[in-house]
Amino acid sequence: MISSLCGMFEGVVLLLAEAGSEPTPSNFWMPEGASKQAPFIDLSFYIINWINYFFFGLVTLVLVWFSFRYRQRSKHVEFSEGPVHNTTLEVTWTVIPTLILIGIFFMGFIGYLDLRTPPKDAFKINVTAQQWAWEFEYPNGAKSTSELVIPAGRPVQLVMRSKDVLHSLYIPDFRVKQDVVPGRYTYLWFESDVVTDPDDESDFFWLFCTEYCGDSHWNMNVHVRVFPDEDFEEWTKEQARWLDVIPEQDLYFMAGPKLYKRCVTCHSLDGIDGSGPSWGPRNGLPAIWDRVVKGEGEVSGGSKFIAGKNKLSDYIGDGKLYETPEAYIRESIYNPGALLVAGYGNQMPTFQGQLNDRAIDAVIGMMKNIDQFNADGSFKDQAMIEEAEARIAEAKAAAIESTPAEAPAGAVSE
Ligand code: CUA
Repeated sequence: MISSLCGMFEGVVLLLAEAGSEPTPSNFWMPEGASKQAPFIDLSFYIINWINYFFFGLVTLVLVWFSFRYRQRSKHVEFSEGPVHNTTLEVTWTVIPTLILIGIFFMGFIGYLDLRTPPKDAFKINVTAQQWAWEFEYPNGAKSTSELVIPAGRPVQLVMRSKDVLHSLYIPDFRVKQDVVPGRYTYLWFESDVVTDPDDESDFFWLFCTEYCGDSHWNMNVHVRVFPDEDFEEWTKEQARWLDVIPEQDLYFMAGPKLYKRCVTCHSLDGIDGSGPSWGPRNGLPAIWDRVVKGEGEVSGGSKFIAGKNKLSDYIGDGKLYETPEAYIRESIYNPGALLVAGYGNQMPTFQGQLNDRAIDAVIGMMKNIDQFNADGSFKDQAMIEEAEARIAEAKAAAIESTPAEAPAGAVSE
């Protein structure tokens, strides 16, 4: 009986998994359904929902009818002995709900097994959650933080870990959700045929962090895009080398704003301090590059702090801890606990292994030219961007001719 029930439901899952390349439309209860898992999960929900409607209606009707039928008709109440036992009735109201519950159990169980058992050939993407960003790493070494791009029509498995606290990855349109727990790996898999337009950034599904993980928890809402195989291949290749094809002089404004998205949650550009000191002019001091060069910034702690030496100028310069301002900024990104800006604790995560030398150059370049950027981190001079884009397109064309199909594993690109 159990195996035949399982078989029956498995048939339903397979049948529903045939759902095509169009998402199921959203309605009052559910957002769009855009994965192969969605139809069965929705069906389970609707079946349980309709069972609830049915019994709610039935119980309410009987309640109203009984209140009317057995209402008190006169002041004189005569208590007669009612029936105490009705085997048929009792068996009915025991057996029917039991069967319904067993049915619901199997539906849930099959759905659970399906969600917990990724196919062996699933495409694996490593996910690292960190306050307050996701990092998606692809088998060719490509990394992405601003969006999760997946191949259409292939099962995708996320191998997830957290660097700090409990996060939870949730893609409502795919109907999947899984906690990301520090100190252990968790998995999630899904498959979607619903292609989003690779040329249209506004065509996406939402991915949420659905576990409150601190200050900027909101920043862990990113986009999921589903690309056809060819575009996906191209995208991962491009991600793996996106920094390498940007000419040196264009790095700070072509790569800077993209990298700054990781910093913006704590470091504003407009002088208003957040979880970290603003990069703009703050507390009567100039913007970040000038206050580092002039050594005017105040420090008050950290593993390399020396008691009594409270000015950055005590640490930066010939023969001091940091020879150059660049060396100090680089260490502040790789080892944020070394010197702490006055008024701040050791909160910032390290970006060691996430930002390579070119990325650090881009960030420092952005700091040096901070007046060329808007408060949201975008670059002001559109004409310069267009010129740089032309140079990058050339560099890319040259790179496509000269690089092997697969970038070396573990290449750090962002
Ligand atoms: Cu991560 Cu909320």
